Amino acid sequence: MTGPLTTAEIREKFLSFFESKGHLRLPSHSLIAPDPTTLFTVAGMQPFKPQFMGAPAKFPGYGENRRVTTAQKCIRVGDIENVGRTRRHLSLFEMMGNFSFGDYFKREAILWAWEFLTSPEWLGMDPARMYVTIYEDDNEAFGYWTQDVGLPEDHIHRFGADENFWPADAPAKGPNGPCGPCSEIYYDRGPHYGDDTWADYAQTRESARFLEVWNLVFPQYDRQDGGVLADLPFKNIDTGMGLERVASVVQDVPDFYSNDVFRPLVEKVAELSGKPYEGEVSVSHRVVAEHIRSVAMTIADGVALSNTGRGYVIRKILRRASRHAYLLGLHEPTLYRLVPLVVQAMGGAYPELVTEEARVTAAIRAEEERFLKTLESGMQRLSGLLEGMERGAVLPGEEAFLLYDTYGFPLDLTKEIAEEYGISVNEAEYAESLERAQETARAASKYGKSELFGGSQEALEGLPPTQFVGYDELEAQGEVLALVGAGERLDHLMAGSEATVVLSRTPFYAEGGGEVGDTGVLEWEGGRGLVRDTRKTPAGIWLHDVLVEEGELTPGVTVRGVVSSERQAIQRHHTATHLLHAALRAVLGPGVRQAGSLVAPERLRFDFTHGAALTADELGQVERLVSRWVTANFPVTWREMPLAEAKAAGATALFGEKYGDTVRVVRVEGGIPFGDATVTSMELCGGAHVTRTGDIGAFVIVSDENVAAGVRRIEALAGEAATAWVRAQLNNVHRVSGLLNTSPDTLETRVIGLQSQLRAVQQETAQARRQLAEAQMGGASTQQVRELGGFKVAMLRLSGIEGGELRGAADKLLDQSGADLAVIASDKGLVVKASKTAVARGAHAGQLIGKLAAAGGGKGGGRPDMAQAGIGNPEAALAALDTAF
Ligand code: ALA
Repeated sequence: MTGPLTTAEIREKFLSFFESKGHLRLPSHSLIAPDPTTLFTVAGMQPFKPQFMGAPAKFPGYGENRRVTTAQKCIRVGDIENVGRTRRHLSLFEMMGNFSFGDYFKREAILWAWEFLTSPEWLGMDPARMYVTIYEDDNEAFGYWTQDVGLPEDHIHRFGADENFWPADAPAKGPNGPCGPCSEIYYDRGPHYGDDTWADYAQTRESARFLEVWNLVFPQYDRQDGGVLADLPFKNIDTGMGLERVASVVQDVPDFYSNDVFRPLVEKVAELSGKPYEGEVSVSHRVVAEHIRSVAMTIADGVALSNTGRGYVIRKILRRASRHAYLLGLHEPTLYRLVPLVVQAMGGAYPELVTEEARVTAAIRAEEERFLKTLESGMQRLSGLLEGMERGAVLPGEEAFLLYDTYGFPLDLTKEIAEEYGISVNEAEYAESLERAQETARAASKYGKSELFGGSQEALEGLPPTQFVGYDELEAQGEVLALVGAGERLDHLMAGSEATVVLSRTPFYAEGGGEVGDTGVLEWEGGRGLVRDTRKTPAGIWLHDVLVEEGELTPGVTVRGVVSSERQAIQRHHTATHLLHAALRAVLGPGVRQAGSLVAPERLRFDFTHGAALTADELGQVERLVSRWVTANFPVTWREMPLAEAKAAGATALFGEKYGDTVRVVRVEGGIPFGDATVTSMELCGGAHVTRTGDIGAFVIVSDENVAAGVRRIEALAGEAATAWVRAQLNNVHRVSGLLNTSPDTLETRVIGLQSQLRAVQQETAQARRQLAEAQMGGASTQQVRELGGFKVAMLRLSGIEGGELRGAADKLLDQSGADLAVIASDKGLVVKASKTAVARGAHAGQLIGKLAAAGGGKGGGRPDMAQAGIGNPEAALAALDTAF
């Protein structure tokens, strides 16, 4: 006696079936996508895009064949938060495919799929339970399905490009590349899964009963920019049969988690945690069982856990699983103990899992250890915060960032936990905090590099201070005094290698006073190198970070240093920074003090003490003052003088900065009248400047924001960067005006008009939804009142109603029916309302909804008289009423 086919047996049958039809069996491609359109491999066809586009069907090591079949491991993470909460979503799945590169086409693809699914020799599924969809005008496919297969016409729906084109909606939305109409095969799982019919499916497009098992795609177009569909060199076939789905049909189990691959994983989770797979906690069993497959298989394919790209996606999945294991009471690393089960289930088809098992296990274990160290304190912090907030509130982005930064909580995880409390996260603020931290880290790593220079003190020993001539000269000759790499003196540097170069004399400005280090080139007899950055030691030795491009560099050689033309842009931004500083003090008052700055070729950033955002008027005044200086075209001079003299002359020194006895003073030789005063600029500064203010060319402030309590940050642009930015803004305004059929001057009125129209439409929609709810409630057939647990319970199934309307409908239902409790389930949510007397008699809407929501694939709670929850399956939620009292 044999049981139903296992997943491995179905996989093998599929591949041998197509081999018997002349296909070449190829191994799965790695989960790391073969092309850069996606991070992970998302479909069986992805490795074969070149063949669809006309490349030869040659597969080194396997042969040449225009018919190919594969079992492809795929990852799709778009709706990862639903994985486990429902039983219908998976992040990792296996797609069985047969492909034709200009060989057979629709007819064979359809007949073979049919044969494989229904022939008793293969899967033997019941032909009477098969349904298909086709692309709206695909009469050819219609003919094969009705004439050659003999499928009744009422088993077929025609849909548009949103359903029956692959990739979905490709003509309108892309991506560019091979695409075409498709035909999907569905299996009717029977009335036990829902009482909807195939006719209903034309409207609902969602069903627990009709399950899509196979997508037959007919790629004949190359989608190009603007929605152009060019013919491919020939017509192709790409199919994808969902192995997990077919396995649950063939094994006749209700969902993926009951099939032969997942069942042992779920059971193992139950065994390790001592918590049976049932009730609300079963979400956690599912999350762990599902995610461990994705994590193990991607690590086996060479993805390293990290904070960017693929590595971060997998880390997020692993941490989500780790948190769910924790919820099950597993406070020690545990996930890694499931790896052998994954290897057992999947290693036959994906042998890299077997060879990489030890590495995969170790990587998962190490990551669990890391995360568990902070998980508990992070959870405490987060739940503390969330408990103090109202439902519907918004968690500040900095908090979410802190949880990420300090406790390793990926944003998605924080969002998911917050959602359980009905709280959302300010993602824009999160992104800002992240960006700020990254900038600091970048700055710190630059600093780290110069520390490395500092660490090579010994290697610099005995070298004289460098003579810097770059305030006035942008090209200068000097002698190579030392080459330093990895803390050691080097006696030569070959082409292709990089090291720190010390010169006797240099035109390159070394990073300092907010101004970035210069870049440029070094040239010498027979060679050339790139200067990528410049720094200096406290002892005044200039360190050039050099990559030799040609020839060889040795100590003693004379080189010519040429500073990159970016220096002009840096100088413009530096002088503009001084003018901005003076203008801010004039407009906002002498309380303004510089708190940090960055002077780069592409922009300037200036931090200063000030308690409030600048008004539009203040920003305008500041900008105008600087612009007047620019047009006045005053000379800019610099001079060294004793500190005391500079102070006496009124030069602005930076607070907290240490200066030597001799200082350099940069001064704009001319003031601008402002009110009763004249504004001038004279600062202690070691930076590089333009020689006349007119060289700045143009000046514009692009942002003013808060960086810390009492500290603001202005970003501004000078020269070409400023005009280019203004042009981009204008283009934007013109584009938006065009979209709104108006001109820039009337843009604002137009937007105000549109906003009020939108409000009116929103009100109408809300009204229409209320009417829809009322109309649906009118049909008494849908409404039932039953006696449960000593209460009269009125229940109702609605569709398309959510939020406030749902609550309104519950009020009405309670009123109309005279019941103690009203329960309404819609595809958009669930609501329970209890009358005052029922509450007095012990009814609790919040507790009841918890049970119903759990049955409906959701989570919920609330007050004794009123509670609301999101659910996936309204029927199951209503059905659970029988056992909820
Ligand atoms: N490429 C098709 C899909 O992914 C088969 O659905």
